[in-house]
Amino acid sequence: MKVTAESPSQLDLFWKELKKGGFISGEGLSKKLGLSKVAIWKGMKKLTELGYEIETRKGKGYRLVREPNLPYPWKVRDLLRAKVVGRRILFFSEVDSTQRVLRDLAMKGEEEGTVVMAKKQRKGRGRLDRVWISTEKDLKLSILLRPETVHPTRLGLLSLIGGLAVSRCVKEAKMKWPNDVLIGGRKVAGILVEASAEADRFNYVILGIGVNVNSTKEDLRGVKDAISMYEMAGEEMDMAEVASSILSNLDDLYLKLVEGRWEEMLKEIKERLDTLGKDVLIKGIGEEFRGKAVDLDDRGFLLVRVGDEIKSIMAGDVIHLRASP
Ligand code: BTN
Repeated sequence: MKVTAESPSQLDLFWKELKKGGFISGEGLSKKLGLSKVAIWKGMKKLTELGYEIETRKGKGYRLVREPNLPYPWKVRDLLRAKVVGRRILFFSEVDSTQRVLRDLAMKGEEEGTVVMAKKQRKGRGRLDRVWISTEKDLKLSILLRPETVHPTRLGLLSLIGGLAVSRCVKEAKMKWPNDVLIGGRKVAGILVEASAEADRFNYVILGIGVNVNSTKEDLRGVKDAISMYEMAGEEMDMAEVASSILSNLDDLYLKLVEGRWEEMLKEIKERLDTLGKDVLIKGIGEEFRGKAVDLDDRGFLLVRVGDEIKSIMAGDVIHLRASP
């Protein structure tokens, strides 16, 4: 069965009531929320379909027994501290790609801030037409942004703030230009930005974030140099908490970006950017060369010293060779 869940919705209210603990009567709930008893019953049924264990007892009502560890929109919203990101949150039990779902919405005029998440993603997309593999224990997020004040040449900065938003959740996390988040040199998250733009302005940007959250070593077998938050911390993470932290961080960074508060944002990115100071192999579009990554400019381009020349790289793959003195 494929279920979708959305926030804000009535389910936010049901969930909040159930979270208080103990039994809540259908009658009391229907009075409190101004809904029919049938509507309450349907809501509880929907929550059950979504994996909630709810005890129903005659004369007593409903009681929450167990919550699934999934980033359901009402829980993410409850923890979220954001102005733009997460204004609307959609959760699908299964999609081909959250990027595709959100792109279709964007083309129909969806407002910025909408987030699409999924329990299962069949055809996750990575950068450069790669496949993004994830399990139901990992986060798959796509966020719709319409940064009117940002010039399309600064698209790279959107990828970098996505990486920084994830990095802020893990003290030890480092970023690898342009789009990876690493823990101990292994990839814990990847960012994919897809945009539609005219010469001097964006129509929309879809920021895709894939995070290995609760995947085990076994789940990640076959994915080269990958690590999960679970593997690092040695304990299961709450998916909604991780999602809301990432989205709250992203909102903070996005506001800095659109309001032109570049300095602090760039400083923080550079502090996390493991690529800086490293000897690198750049595999760009139609070119490949070695050099030393020396800086990042205010468009998010990587500055690489090759002999006496400084090359600025807009996109491509970077391989860290070794730290050089
Ligand atoms: C990469 O490292 O190549 C980027 C991976 C991005 C994966 C995320 S998961 C959510 C969103 N939906 C997709 O199909 N891809 C992105």
